[in-house]
Amino acid sequence: MVAGNWKMNGLPSSAAELRKMIEALEGGAPCDVLICPPFPLIAPFVRDGADSGIEIGAQDCHRAESGAHTGDVSAALLAAIGARAVIVGHSERRADHGESDSLVRAKAEAVLAAKLLPIICVGETEAQRDAGEAEATVLAQLDGSLPDDAQIVVAYEPVWAIGTGRVPQMADIAAMHGAIRRAMVARYGEAGQGIRLLYGGSVKPGNAKEIFAIEDVDGGLIGGASLKADDFLAIVAAA
Ligand code: 13P
Repeated sequence: MVAGNWKMNGLPSSAAELRKMIEALEGGAPCDVLICPPFPLIAPFVRDGADSGIEIGAQDCHRAESGAHTGDVSAALLAAIGARAVIVGHSERRADHGESDSLVRAKAEAVLAAKLLPIICVGETEAQRDAGEAEATVLAQLDGSLPDDAQIVVAYEPVWAIGTGRVPQMADIAAMHGAIRRAMVARYGEAGQGIRLLYGGSVKPGNAKEIFAIEDVDGGLIGGASLKADDFLAIVAAA
């Protein structure tokens, strides 16, 4: 799977980039391809992407099905307008909105209840890596953030690699994805083998192939490079 997280970028005119991607993948995408634009662009993007090789997802949702939560959006509404997946627990939401592991887990459960695919994000800060706590941090996040249902995708995104152009050593990505795989199997049994583990953090056309070749890297969660059709398509081709 290659998933694009547009974050707080994009305007209605950005549909032109999406259309470029759709046209390029018309013959069939080589893997699952997902674009997660800001909320107001989901419905028009679903219309544009219908029957194409690209699915549309969201970047967040509320834990509740409905109710008095001003400014929030439910997974049920996202499902109703045609979204297929929801990113939960992105480090920017954990940092900007103080989202805890237990809240991320509740959101993942809400996504599953709406019959959508949760993409659950984890990742250490630079200070945690420097202190030798990267793996312990990520495993603790997984412990607190994962729902009981194995119909999930996990994205490992080291915070210090997001939007910085810095990427971990390939051996470090391999070690972390191996540790996450073992945690998935310990938690879900055989089903844990089939859970897709995405790497995110400064994935670009120039490094995607090398990253995707790592064992237990089953795709990528792409920020900046998902905004431009040419870059995103090159990453999809690498997958
Ligand atoms: P960049 O690809 O811009 O580093 O962002 C990664 C990310 O946070 C995707 O969710």
